Amino acid sequence: MSKTATLEFDGKKYEFPITVGTEDEIGIDIKKLRGEAGLITLDPGFKNTGSCESAITFLDGEKGILRYRGYAIEDLAEKADFLEVVYLLIFGELPNKEQLEKFTNDIKEQSHVDEEMKKILDGFPKSAHPMGVLSSLTSALIAFNPSSVDVSSEEDMYKAIVKILGKFPVLAAWTLRKKNSLPLNYGDEDLGYVENLHKMMFEKPNKTYSVDKAVINALDKLLILHADHEQNCSTSTVRMVGSSHAGLFASLSAGISALWGPLHGGANQAVIEMLENIKEDGGDTKKFMEKAKDKEDPFRLMGFGHRVYKNFDPRAKIIKKSADEVLGQLGIEDPVLDIAKGLEKQALEDDYFVKRKLYPNVDFYSGIIYRALGIPVDMFTVMFALGRLPGWIAQWREMRLKKEPIGRPRQIYTGENHREFKPLGNR
Ligand code: CMC
Repeated sequence: MSKTATLEFDGKKYEFPITVGTEDEIGIDIKKLRGEAGLITLDPGFKNTGSCESAITFLDGEKGILRYRGYAIEDLAEKADFLEVVYLLIFGELPNKEQLEKFTNDIKEQSHVDEEMKKILDGFPKSAHPMGVLSSLTSALIAFNPSSVDVSSEEDMYKAIVKILGKFPVLAAWTLRKKNSLPLNYGDEDLGYVENLHKMMFEKPNKTYSVDKAVINALDKLLILHADHEQNCSTSTVRMVGSSHAGLFASLSAGISALWGPLHGGANQAVIEMLENIKEDGGDTKKFMEKAKDKEDPFRLMGFGHRVYKNFDPRAKIIKKSADEVLGQLGIEDPVLDIAKGLEKQALEDDYFVKRKLYPNVDFYSGIIYRALGIPVDMFTVMFALGRLPGWIAQWREMRLKKEPIGRPRQIYTGENHREFKPLGNR
């Protein structure tokens, strides 16, 4: 393979180095393009632009492969638990017993927030969307933890990481408790990370907390499946904000806002709302398929299509199987699951979807499981954020350790040329 790529423009030739990844992806390093040729690249939505080199997550959209630090998502979802995956993503290796124990204990030590935070939460109306509240509370944490992280110190970095991993589930659970008018609570140090999260979300003041193990296992798996997905919209946001040397919590708060959108993490809420609509409309899936294909109609089949996966989304495969298992274990029959399966079958046989390589994505079946676990619809994207937290942290840490420059894309200006200023009276 040649080591450079040649670009010819206006009769001149320019050579640019080739960068090859460990999975043989090839990139043209165009850092010197503007300096040498006076050109920039134009790629709205960054559909074809690599923003960084990263050693965290590999995905092959054509083959439907997803790996964290080299481990297949199928193995991790089946054999690891969420905190092991968190450690793996952030520090690069699966923890041994002692490392995991220390990590777990250090997170537990941080699983409380300043009492003053309750006043901030109190200021939000009950009708506020939990994602807006979560993003604001994550930002508010900065006021109570003002010292900036010294990224040259692994110890300082570690402290900031266990701090946010401890406090984030408390904030997420409190957004739900506020909505449900339940007293704000804390976890129990004898419980694991995921069970603690569940307890904080659902514990009732007048009842002894208990939960079906199947619920915790399903939740653990969903968190693992959402834990990282390389340079998606929210992760790129976290890296971009962090590249200005804004702190970890500020970068995460921006990432939560990016995740909220219905084209990204907000799709899980949009999917269940769409399926409910179809059910209430009489369950005619064909009618909605036609709407999705009609270019005059803004309706899209939510939970379908992906920027990178053009064959199948491996997470969707695991989640579909898990939806069947969990609903079976909990003895729940949800007619919406049948509507979802019907839609999937029709789409996979429909020319429009086949031609455009549109397949169910991670969000298509996840909402059905969340609902079976008793999680309210507007908390679905918060569950996604809880899962994606380690990915955001890992990517932020990698970006800071590699001393990446501030993110600052260029543009092709298409506005007015220079104009004479007209005083107000002459306009
Ligand atoms: N329903 C109907 N048509 C679709 C859909 C859909 N869900 N998705 C894409 N298309 C069509 C689109 O209209 C376009 O058609 P044409 O070539 O005729 O103009 C073609 O497929 C390519 O779509 P695109 O919007 O250019 O593709 P993109 O890579 O920019 O967008 C996407 C990817 C995920 C935003 C998009 O597929 C979509 O809006 N899906 C629904 C929302 C969703 O499920 N999002 C969750 C994504 S996975 C989890 C996550 O990232 O958080």
